[in-house]
Amino acid sequence: MRSPIGPEPSSCSSTPVSAEAGRGAPGAAGVVAPEAFAVYVHWPFCAQKCPYCDFNSHVRHGGWDERAYLDAYLAEIASTARGLASRGPVESIFFGGGTPSLMQPGTVAGIIEAVEATFGVSDGCEITLEANPGSVEAGRFRGYLAAGVNRVSLGVQALDDGALKRLGRLHSLADALAALDIARATFDRVSFDLIYARPGMTEAVWEAELTTALRLGSDHLSLYQLTIEEGTPFADLHRAGKLHVPEPEIADRLYALTQDMTEAAGMPAYEISNHARPGQESRHNLVYWRYGSYVGLGPGAHGRELRPDGRVATVNERGPEAWMQRVAATGRGVIEDQVLTAEEQADELLLMGLRLSEGIDLVRLARVGGVRPDQAVIDRLAGLGVLEVFGNDRIRATRAGRFVLNEVVRQLSKSFRPDLA
Ligand SMILES: C[S@@+](CC[C@H](N)C(=O)[O-])C[C@H]1O[C@@H](n2cnc3c(N)ncnc32)[C@H](O)[C@@H]1O
Ligand code: SF4
Repeated sequence: MRSPIGPEPSSCSSTPVSAEAGRGAPGAAGVVAPEAFAVYVHWPFCAQKCPYCDFNSHVRHGGWDERAYLDAYLAEIASTARGLASRGPVESIFFGGGTPSLMQPGTVAGIIEAVEATFGVSDGCEITLEANPGSVEAGRFRGYLAAGVNRVSLGVQALDDGALKRLGRLHSLADALAALDIARATFDRVSFDLIYARPGMTEAVWEAELTTALRLGSDHLSLYQLTIEEGTPFADLHRAGKLHVPEPEIADRLYALTQDMTEAAGMPAYEISNHARPGQESRHNLVYWRYGSYVGLGPGAHGRELRPDGRVATVNERGPEAWMQRVAATGRGVIEDQVLTAEEQADELLLMGLRLSEGIDLVRLARVGGVRPDQAVIDRLAGLGVLEVFGNDRIRATRAGRFVLNEVVRQLSKSFRPDLA
């Protein structure tokens, strides 16, 4: 499951298949203030479409006019800035995709320079680029570093050649390990993604793979359960009975194993699918889940902008060419632009914040959404062991609560929105 709101899952928020699970380990980093401001840049092209993927990614065998795309991103940055009301300097820039490691370093540099000149960036601004192992080259990575990128997120997906093939990936295990070496030699902060609960996966197989992954020594790992997304070739195969994902009980055990092993290795979950050594959490992820504000640039990007009329949800045109045309015509690629009501903001804040092991601050919920969940409902959920009340007016989902997160959020929302009853 992906987050129903927020950007094209730049820092993908796929959750376990059978459980909206996660865990309630205390204490994610306090590196980002709640109203931090970030920029998401979506690069829509990939070398090949993976059969499980429903991200806004497109293959263009004839290539693309990269200069024209850079100009469109620059135009969108300038127009977006004109509409914003309040924001601090940019805490994080995230190049997500698609496959941003197909971008020329000069394009990445041009966008970073424009963001810096237009919005201003904080000291130590985190600048992340998603990379596919198949498109990693040392020279290009040095170019990204020179452009200002200081963190890389590699889509490793599996540490097994057979599994990579079955996932339709273009890279081998050797490519992935070589890419990790290049990434580590170039950047201080390197994360990688793995997909588990793959067809036929047992606990023993995942335990062995995760043991290897933890030995690879990254400070941040995104571990996603395979989600069968409608409209993908995997969904067709699944429907036809030709692709068997683990049964829900096995998927739940794989999830529990993931929590136990990462915790023991000093990399607890700070969000349902994201694990880090303390202090190495993705600041970008934290901006989303702490319900900060962000602008989304590029095809299909989503944003949550603070404008004079309130917090606005934006959605960009998904097609790369259509997005470019819209930017040329209007300055932005936005096709949906909706001022959120206080209640909608409260729902979003709950939904995002309860993904985090640090949970949410009820005082901030009241400030942003003008509401407070009914204390009797909080007590009932706490009594059921799915919610924990802690600290100075904070709540968080427990490990059990993350397995039924949507229902926990629904019960809390219902308590201040009688229309949902
Ligand atoms: C924007 S995507 C892809 C980044 C990059 N293009 C790649 O594929 O390596 C980010 C991550 O989402 C995860 N992901 C994508 N589709 C998924 C699915 N159907 N189920 C679980 N995880 C998925 C993968 O781990 C992937 O690395
Ligand atoms: S490379 Fe990444 S974004 Fe592109 S199709 Fe595959 S999973 Fe999706």
